Order: sequence, then structure tokens, then C-alpha cells
Amino acid sequence: MKKIIIVLGTRPEAIKLAPLVLALKAMPDKVDCKLCVTGQHRQMLDSVLELFGLIPDMDLELMRPNQSLGTLTAGAIEKLDAYFQIEKPDAVVVQGDTTTVFAASLTAFYHKIPIAHVEAGLRTGNMLSPWPEEANRVLTTRLAHWHFCPTKLNRDNLLKEGVLAEQIYITGNTVIDTLFWSLEKLKEEKITIPGLPGESLDFIGDRRLVLITGHRRENFGKGFEDICNAIVELGKRFPDNVFIYPVHLNPNVREPVERIIANEKLENVFLIEPQSYLPFVALMSRSYLILTDSGGVQEEAPSLGKPVLVMRDTTERPEAVIAGTVKLIGAEYDNIVNEATLLLSDENAYRKMSQAMNPYGDGHAVERIVDELLR
Ligand code: UD1
Ligand code: UDP
Repeated sequence: MKKIIIVLGTRPEAIKLAPLVLALKAMPDKVDCKLCVTGQHRQMLDSVLELFGLIPDMDLELMRPNQSLGTLTAGAIEKLDAYFQIEKPDAVVVQGDTTTVFAASLTAFYHKIPIAHVEAGLRTGNMLSPWPEEANRVLTTRLAHWHFCPTKLNRDNLLKEGVLAEQIYITGNTVIDTLFWSLEKLKEEKITIPGLPGESLDFIGDRRLVLITGHRRENFGKGFEDICNAIVELGKRFPDNVFIYPVHLNPNVREPVERIIANEKLENVFLIEPQSYLPFVALMSRSYLILTDSGGVQEEAPSLGKPVLVMRDTTERPEAVIAGTVKLIGAEYDNIVNEATLLLSDENAYRKMSQAMNPYGDGHAVERIVDELLR
């Protein structure tokens, strides 16, 4: 029987691979599937594992406060090396563009284990943006055997780099599988949102909700200071709107958020802890507008018909930008304030950006990946 190890380390990898882990573990007569978490993230990873009832077969427990990329990479390679040596899997599955993905791919390559790359072929063409993720993707592509692409554009990117067509599969993004599952679950469950008054969205009433997230390394420093100052200005300019910002646990994000936004103590701006996935989907669904630099949120919001202003200069996910529901605005104060002000005050501009569409998948990506892996 084929032995497949799925390696993941951060929140978005867990969200996007959870349905694949569940699908493979549900067929023990066909495949021996093991889940290895590097623990690159801890709390933010564990909340997703818990939601999906995923119990890792191996936890490398790598997270350290404010860990450097070099230490994390070295630790991951050393521990994965020992693990692959014992387990000798027939394939290793990775997802996306994190340090965990690159370290697991390189280690699998050293063991001559074929690598399946889920969410392959995303590119900005700029190795410094997003940093270091663009490099992680390019390097993983060179090492991988199966390339599971969300979209045709992703496939075209890989063909241009000389990847063989027979090793590329257009599957859709697994995040849409997870999102659809979550939307169904939300119909059945009353959700609590820790950190909000009454741990619920009810306090918002009929006010508009602006949802904010951010964590990109290339925004650390001035970018985050601009983002924080812009949120304060928007909070003051639109006192009848509610702003909710689940703050990423990276200390480089928390420091300016505490110093600039928390200090203002605005009554309509709520800084809360990172949310588990179901509450976050509830927040996205209830929002009027989303400001983010996240990759995953850019993929989910179009399905929900929510306009997104992306606080970055580049995106590897241009499909929704081309369709007009996502706009790249950079991380400069004036742009953020002006673009958000436009959407919060001009209904025509808002309506043009709020069409629901699914450029990233139909919710069946996992089935296609399983078919190919087990063939
Ligand atoms: C990582 C990924 C990024 C991905 C993001 C998703 C890399 C280089 N970066 O960025 O591609 O988009 O995750 O969120 O792989 N921390 C905690 N608890 C947690 C998670 C993080 O305390 O659960 C703190 C720790 O101090 C940790 C720091 O955040 O050292 C940075 O974590 P790290 O995984 O290196 O980078 P992220 O910014 O989270
Ligand atoms: N997300 C979440 N809780 C939060 C913020 C985000 O569950 O408080 C989800 C979001 O819906 C998306 C994923 O986390 O699926 C994105 O993670 P992040 O922005 O950290 O990473 P990226 O996608 O940029 O790699």
C-alpha cells in the first residue's frame, strides 16, 4: 500500500490541506496517510487542527518566539530528515509557499521521495515580493513531481518555466473546498467570536463592518505603521462603521498595532486575537469590505462577493483583480485611506466590486488531487 506523508506548518496550510488529510485518512484500505506538522505556527495552527479533528502523527514543535527564517529552515530540515528516514514514504505532500513547504520539499528530494505540490504555479515574478514566499514557490516547483494548480493561469506559469505538461493538473484551490464546508457548518452552528462584545456579531446591528488582517514581512516597519495609521483615520472618518481586526501573532505585527491603534482607544475599532477558521468565515461573510495583505483571504472573499483592498504592491493571485473584485492598493497611508473612503462612501464604486465569483475553484479540488495521487 502507498504511504503518503502530508507535511504542514502554518494556519493557511492547515486550512487548505485539512480536507485532503481527511479524505486520505478516510480510505485506510487504499493509502497509509500520515500527518506531520512542523509546528512552524503553534496556537494559530492548533485551532485549525482542532476544528477539523486532525491529530498529527508527528509534531516537530518548531515554533520559537520571533523565529528567524534560517533557524526555522535548519530545524525543519534536521527533524524532517530523521522522520522521513524512519517512515520512508512513497510521496510527500506540501501546500503553498511557506518555510515548511520549502524545507519539506528539499528534505524529501534528498531522500528521493516524489513531492506533490498543492497550490502550484502562483507567481508574482518578483523574488522579493512576497518575501520569502515567491522563492519558496519557485524552489518547490523545481523539486516537485506533481504540480496541482488552482487555475489555468498557474498552469501557464509553470509551462513557461519548462515544467512538463503531463505533471501539471488544474484542480482548483482546496481553500474553496474548505470554505464551502465551513459555510455549511455555519448554517448549523451558532458561532462565538472571542474578543467581541457578547462574543457575537449581534452588537454590530445594521452598521457596516470593515474586516482587516495583515502579516506580510515586506510590510514590516513603515508598511505596518502606515496600515495602522490608516485604520485609525478610517475609524475616525467613519464613526458609524465597525472595524474588526484579528491581529496576527507575529511580534512584528503586534508591536505597531498596539502602539498606534490600541493607544487611540477608538470605540468602533476592535482589535481581537486571531480567530479560528469558522468565526473568521463568519466575519468575512458579515463584512462590507475587507482590507488585507493575506493570500488566502484574496481567494475566499470573491466567493462571498466581498470587495477586497489588498495592501500589497504585487499579487500572485491576479484572477480576481482582473475580474474587478479585488484591488491592489499598496501599503501606503494615503492610498489605503483614499481607496477605503471611496468604497465606504460611493455606492456605485462599491457595487462594481461586490460581484460574487469563483475564479479559484468549485469546491472539488481535493477529489481531483486524491484521484491523481492514488492512480
Ligand atoms: C508565516 C509564513 C507566511 C504565511 C503566514 C501565514 C514563512 C516564511 N512565512 O508567516 O508565508 O503567509 O505564516 O500566517 O513561512 N507566532 C506565534 N504563534 C503562532 C504563529 C506565529 O506566536 O501560532 C509568532 C512567533 O513569535 C513566530 C512568529 O509569529 O516566531 C513568526 O512566525 P513565522 O511562521 O516565522 O512567520 P509568519 O509571519 O507567521
Ligand atoms: N484566517 C483565520 N483567522 C484569522 C485570520 C485569517 O482563520 O483570524 C484564515 C483566512 O480565512 C485564510 C487564512 O487564514 O484562509 C489566511 O491566513 P494568513 O493570512 O495568515 O496567510 P496567507 O494566506 O497570507 O498565507
